[in-house]
Amino acid sequence: MTKRIALIPGDGIGKEVIPQAVKVMQAAGAAVELTPFDWGADRYLADKVTVPPDGFTTLARDFDAILVGAFGDPRVPSNMHAKEILLGMRCQMDLYANVRPVRLLDASLCPLKGIEAKDLDFVVIRENTEGVYGDLGGVFKQGTPDEIAIQEDVNTRKGVERIIRYAFEYCASNRKLDGSPRRRVLMCDKSNAMTHAGGLWQRVFKEVAAEYPRIETQHMYVDALCMQMVRDPRGFDVIVTNNMFGDIITDLAAGLQGGLGMAASGNLSPGKTSMFEPVHGSAPPIAGKNIANPFGAILTAAMMLAHLGMSGEAQKIEAAVLEAVRQKKTTADIGGTLGTREAGEWVAQTTLRPR
Ligand SMILES: NC(=O)c1ccc[n+]([C@@H]2O[C@H](COP(=O)([O-])OP(=O)(O)OC[C@H]3O[C@@H](n4cnc5c(N)ncnc54)[C@H](O)[C@@H]3O)[C@@H](O)[C@H]2O)c1
Repeated sequence: MTKRIALIPGDGIGKEVIPQAVKVMQAAGAAVELTPFDWGADRYLADKVTVPPDGFTTLARDFDAILVGAFGDPRVPSNMHAKEILLGMRCQMDLYANVRPVRLLDASLCPLKGIEAKDLDFVVIRENTEGVYGDLGGVFKQGTPDEIAIQEDVNTRKGVERIIRYAFEYCASNRKLDGSPRRRVLMCDKSNAMTHAGGLWQRVFKEVAAEYPRIETQHMYVDALCMQMVRDPRGFDVIVTNNMFGDIITDLAAGLQGGLGMAASGNLSPGKTSMFEPVHGSAPPIAGKNIANPFGAILTAAMMLAHLGMSGEAQKIEAAVLEAVRQKKTTADIGGTLGTREAGEWVAQTTLRPR
C-alpha cells in the first residue's frame, strides 16, 4: 500500500539534501506519495507563519510519516520558526523517542585509529520531549549586575519510564547489521551531580530492567561516556539518555561515522505518525553551494522506509550509499569530489542497478 509522506525540506542545506533523498527513494521503487510543505524561514519572513493553524493535526491525521531537512536561518536570529516547527512537532505530536543509529559504513570515515566498520553499530535513544529543552524558566533582573537566569530540567515519571522502556523494547526486537542480537542497554546520566532528576532515572531504570532479565544493563555518567566514545567505542550497543545528553553525544557519535553529513535519525512514538530527519542542521555557511553531503538525508529516508515496512527498498538504498562511500563517489567532507546533486544522482543510479 502506498504510504503518504509529508516532505518539509526547511532551510539552508535541508532544501538541497531532501531532493536527493526523494530521488533515491523513487529510484528504489518505494511506494510513497509525497506532499511538499513550505514551512521554514522563507515562509515565516513572507507572512509570519511558522506552523499554519491545524498544521500538526494535519500531519498526524493525513500522513504515515514526515521527512524533514533542517531549520535555522541567519535572517531569523531568534530561530523562533525553527523552535516552533521542530520542537512543536516533537512535543505536540508527542514523538518522544529520538532514535539515532551510529554505524560506520567504512573504516576510512572514522577518525579513530584501529576501528573497523564492523566495530561500530550502536544506537542512541534520546528522550525528545522533556529535560532542559522545554524552555521553562526565566530571567530576573535582566541587564543588571544581579541578573539571574533559570533553566528548568523537567523529568516526569511517565516520560522517563516510557523512554527507558522504549530502549529495552528496541534492544529486544532489533538486531545488529551483522545479524547478531542486541544484548545491552546502557543508561547515561549525571546522577552524581544532578541528584533529583538522576535519582528518578536511576530508580526507573532498575524497575524497567527487572522486566527484561535477558538484557544486560550498564550505567555511565555522561562525562565518562564521552571519554569512552573517543577512546574505544566498540562496546556500545543501546544507549538511553535524556534530551540534552542525547543531543550532545549523538553529535560526538556522528564524528565517529564521518561527520554530521552521515548521521540519520527518527523521532518516533509507537502507533503515531513519526518524523525522520538527518542529524545535521541547516549549515548556513555551506548552503546553496551544492557541497552539502546528502547521505545523512538519504540514510534517513531509508530509515523511514524500513519503519514503514519497506525493508527491501531501505536495504537497496543503504547498499548503494555503502558502495558510494567505498568508491569515493561522495562530497568533499568525506573525501570525494562530487557535488550534492551528483552524489545523490550516483546513489540513485546505483540503487536502480540489479544486485
Ligand atoms: N534539526 C535541525 O533542524 C537542526 C539541528 C542542528 C542545528 N540546527 C540549526 O542549524 C543552524 C546551524 O547550526 P550548526 O552550525 O550548529 O549545525 P550544523 O549541523 O548546521 O553544521 C555544523 C557543521 O557541520 C557541517 N555540516 C553539517 N551538515 C553537513 C552536511 N550535510 N554536509 C557537510 N557538512 C555538514 C557544517 O558545515 C558545519 O561546519 C542553526 O540555526 C541551528 O539552530 C537545526
